[in-house]
Amino acid sequence: MGGGYVGLVTGACLASCGHRVTIIDPDQEKVTSINRKEPPIFEGGLTDILQKYGGKTLFASTSCESISSADLIFICVGTPQGEDGSADLTFIREAATQAGGAIRESEQFQVVVVKSTVPPGTMKDLVIPAVLSVSGKKEGEIGFAMNPEFLREGRAIYDFLHPDRIVIGTDGDEAYQALEALYESFDVPKIKTSLTAAEMIKYTSNAFLATKISFSNEIGNICKSLGLDVYEVMAAVGLDPRIGSLFLNAGAGFGGSCFPKDVLALVHMAESAGVDPLILKAVLCVNDHQPDRMIGLLQKRIGNLAGKQIAVLGLAFKDNTDDIRESRAIPVIRALFRAGATISAYDPMAMEAMSRLFPDVQYCLSAASALTGVDGALIMTEWPEFGKLKEEFSLMKTQVVIDGRHMITGPGIEGVCW
Ligand code: UGA
Repeated sequence: MGGGYVGLVTGACLASCGHRVTIIDPDQEKVTSINRKEPPIFEGGLTDILQKYGGKTLFASTSCESISSADLIFICVGTPQGEDGSADLTFIREAATQAGGAIRESEQFQVVVVKSTVPPGTMKDLVIPAVLSVSGKKEGEIGFAMNPEFLREGRAIYDFLHPDRIVIGTDGDEAYQALEALYESFDVPKIKTSLTAAEMIKYTSNAFLATKISFSNEIGNICKSLGLDVYEVMAAVGLDPRIGSLFLNAGAGFGGSCFPKDVLALVHMAESAGVDPLILKAVLCVNDHQPDRMIGLLQKRIGNLAGKQIAVLGLAFKDNTDDIRESRAIPVIRALFRAGATISAYDPMAMEAMSRLFPDVQYCLSAASALTGVDGALIMTEWPEFGKLKEEFSLMKTQVVIDGRHMITGPGIEGVCW
């Protein structure tokens, strides 16, 4: 249930592992696109899977009909940020209710599995009661599982097929066995937990990864003021296996549909439980601060931004995706406009999405064209092609570049925290 990033990737990958999958989504356009074997989102490797399994063992539908005969029902709907920062569980409630209705008449043992990121207690307090009350079944007649995903957008197919571990939180052995059998071909640790612990594991993983990034950014800010390169420092620090080298890339900070939302939701949960989450609040604070630092560095170099023309290279929240949710380019563009600058921008994939949010930016077909004649430039996304830019910077009116992703070195180029 749910044909977004998580549902579509999960469904496609499970089909590629030999299972028969129906992706259910109310959006007719999305369903038609999947059945046409054209992914409605960009995700490397997804088209190949749809081409190979679409119409054979992988289907999409707007109807919940296939649920009644499914062995496992995966709920993969969104849990967006609510107004107060907590996770909005409206879609989870709807999906659980629909699943309950669809399995009313079913006689077989079925397992309702949640893959969406949901606050600890959601299975126990919302999903299980909703499914049981609508289906009219008793506890034990249906299995429940929480099976969080750890996929990164842009690398989601690879991450699904090469997990480090599979976390299976369940309410009983029968449900656990069903999930274990589903993932039989994956030779990785399968961690059996309670439903609530599995929910917390997902938030904790994301919060820890976000903390690593903000920690590196803070060290980077210190390093820069001491005249040091944080990348030189972290390259050695990361080799300690207790620390690890991944997610130490300092820069413009983290965006996307997960880290900002999940850390904020965890802050909200902590505060509701009477705990003051000092580290998590600092993680968000450092992250909010990094785009401001980039604007500050630019101003230091070229003075008042009013009337200046600035190029923004990179609009997606990271490379390999057209997703701009919580992209660090958004606060940067807002601050530039507020300061009275005009903006030219280039991104290999995310210009259409960003043009809906900022129609007044001038969108260009290449980095070279965005850089031509500008007073300064900001690099906001780690697209590999930005690492190859060189001569293009000589097209600028003044060669001042603030690099937020450690992509380039050269005359006039300065890192946000190196
Ligand atoms: C993240 C997690 O990495 C996944 O494990 C998790 O499943 C997913 O959230 C989710 O909850 O669904 P994602 O948001 O797709 O995945 O992307 P990441 O690759 O984690 O990047 C997030 C942000 O952090 C990007 O803006 C990226 O530029 C930034 N980042 C990443 C850094 O600034 N430094 C780094 O070292 C790494």
